[in-house]
Formats: sequence, C-alpha cells, structure tokens
Amino acid sequence: MRAVGIDMHGGTDVLRVRRVPEPVVGAGEVLVRTVASSLNPVDAKTREWEIGTLPANLGWDLSGVVLDSEDERFRPGDRVIAMSAQIATGRGTWADVVSLPGDLLAAAPGRVGPEEAATLPLAGLTALQALESADVGAGDRVLVVGAVGGVGGLAVQLARHLGARVDGLVSRTSHVDAARELGAELVVDDPAELADGVYQVVLHTAGPHVTHALAEGGRYVSIADAPLPDVPGASKSYVEQSGKQLGELARLVDDGVLRLRVAADLPVERVGEAHELFEAGGLTGKVVLTFSPPTTGRGE
Ligand SMILES: NC(=O)c1ccc[n+]([C@@H]2O[C@H](COP(=O)([O-])OP(=O)(O)OC[C@H]3O[C@@H](n4cnc5c(N)ncnc54)[C@H](OP(=O)(O)O)[C@@H]3O)[C@@H](O)[C@H]2O)c1
Repeated sequence: MRAVGIDMHGGTDVLRVRRVPEPVVGAGEVLVRTVASSLNPVDAKTREWEIGTLPANLGWDLSGVVLDSEDERFRPGDRVIAMSAQIATGRGTWADVVSLPGDLLAAAPGRVGPEEAATLPLAGLTALQALESADVGAGDRVLVVGAVGGVGGLAVQLARHLGARVDGLVSRTSHVDAARELGAELVVDDPAELADGVYQVVLHTAGPHVTHALAEGGRYVSIADAPLPDVPGASKSYVEQSGKQLGELARLVDDGVLRLRVAADLPVERVGEAHELFEAGGLTGKVVLTFSPPTTGRGE
C-alpha cells in the first residue's frame, strides 16, 4: 500500500509517496481504508521542523471505511473518522490502510461526504477542547483570533452553539464575509478596531496576541506556538485524541450546527502541491488529500 512519509526534514521535496507493508489489526484496534485526510499546520511543521522521529509517516486526520475490527463497536463497512496524534505515536494517517485503537474512532457524520468529514478530526477536537478549557458558556462574549482558519472556523460555530456571542479577527479583508457566514457578529481584520476589555474569552489561534480586548478576569486561551502573553490566567490548550468527542462533533455536523469547509481536494500523489497550497495561506477552507479506492487486495 502507499503511505506518505519523510526520511529527512525540509521543503515539499522531502515528501515521499512510498510502498509500505499494510498494518495488521492489533487487539482493540480497527483497520480502516483511508478515503480522505486533511492537512493541518502540524503536518507542514513535522515535515519542515526538527520534530518527531525519522523516518516518519505523516498525517493526523482520517476519514475512511472499516476493513476489519477487533473492537466490537465497529464493523467492516462502517464509515468512520479519527484523529491520530502522529508525532506522539508514530501512526500517520496518510496511508491507504491505517490501524488505530477503537477509542480514537467515531462514526463519520452521515450528512457530509468523506472529504468534508476529513476536515473535522484535528481541527474540531482542538476547537472543542480549547473552548472547554476556556469554560465558554451562554452569554459570554468570545473573540476568535483566526476566525476562518481550520480551528478558528469551527470554534466560531461551536461557541455560538454554546450560547456565546462571537466576534472574529481575520487576517485580511477578503475573509470578513466568510467569518460572518460562520456566525461571527463583528469581524475585523485589524486588532486596533476591537474595543478594550469586552471579551470574557479570547481564543487565540494565530497572529499576534490580542490582550487589550480581554475583559478583566477573562480567560485567554491560545493554541498557537507563540509564548503566552503576560495576562493573568492565560493558558495553552493542546489537542488530545478522543473518539468520544469526535462522535459529539459528528453529531453536531449531522444536526446542521457545524458546517465543514473544503477549499481544495487533491489526490495523495499530489501531496507536495497540497502542502504548497496550504502553506500559501489565504484559504477559507481546508486542503483535503484523497486516496483512490483499492483495485486489488484491501489497500492496493
Ligand atoms: N495546541 C494544539 O493542540 C493545536 C492544535 C491544532 C492547531 N494548532 C496550531 O494552531 C494554529 C492554527 O491552526 P489551524 O489549523 O487553525 O491553522 P489554519 O487553518 O492555517 O488557520 C489559521 C488562520 O489564522 C489566520 N491568521 C494568520 N495570521 C493572522 C492574524 N495576524 N490575524 C488574524 N488571523 C490570522 C490565517 O489566515 P491566512 O491564511 O490568511 O494567513 C488562517 O485563517 C497553528 O499554529 C497550529 O499549528 C495547535
């Protein structure tokens, strides 16, 4: 079967689509034929930065169909999604067939196709867990910085669903409408336009820290790499694997609460191009990698 891997860190030229043995389903695991995955910043950073061990198979998001299962909750033919913490476990999802612990999987949302479903796992879990760590609730005024990004776009919709009033900061004027369509009320592309001290929660996903807008006693949560600002109680949120929470997110997609956005989908053979497109930025949806259906065997 094919898998996307790297033997060294660097530009998109270090990405290799290579033949590797198909994984064997272990105790408690589920063997999944990959239909689609999506790109996340961590994939580009793992490729480019000195993080993770080499050689590595890349990919965190998985949207596919169960081939074999050692977990009674999943059966062959089930459509599933999962997030695999590739850096920590070495289990990359950019492969024709992936075996993962059943606890990481959830039924895929039925309302959308596998490509859209592939945009949900990492970004959705990050948004949900960051909002939970900020204890967002009804009536809170929430500012999402990076409001049309992979995480930010889902955070806007989730915070609205929790009853918050949500505003957004975006990188460019052309993204203002996209953020409004996701449910943000006031959307600006210049932090200076944000009032002082009005937000109970600031969720920071990108760009400079926006501390002047945080209300006294407010919660400042960042998922970005930059060091935290000097604000009382500021914290970072790091995504954790959870099939249970993915199931909750999939149900929100089926209930029409969460809209998933695909900016482009490319076959896995064009993974270098997908990275370039993603890293150029300026997108209002995610870049999806697709895996062609097997012609022989299970993952070939
Ligand atoms: N802590 C964790 O567990 C965790 C989990 C997931 C992601 N992350 C990190 O969180 C960050 C965001 O991830 P993502 O998947 O949402 O990335 P993304 O899809 O690239 O979204 C980032 C968004 O922020 C926008 N942006 C950039 N600079 C901005 C600025 N100065 N003001 C307002 N918006 C700005 C980008 O716009 P342009 O495209 O126009 O630049 C883009 O819309 C990444 O650094 C990622 O590595 C951390």
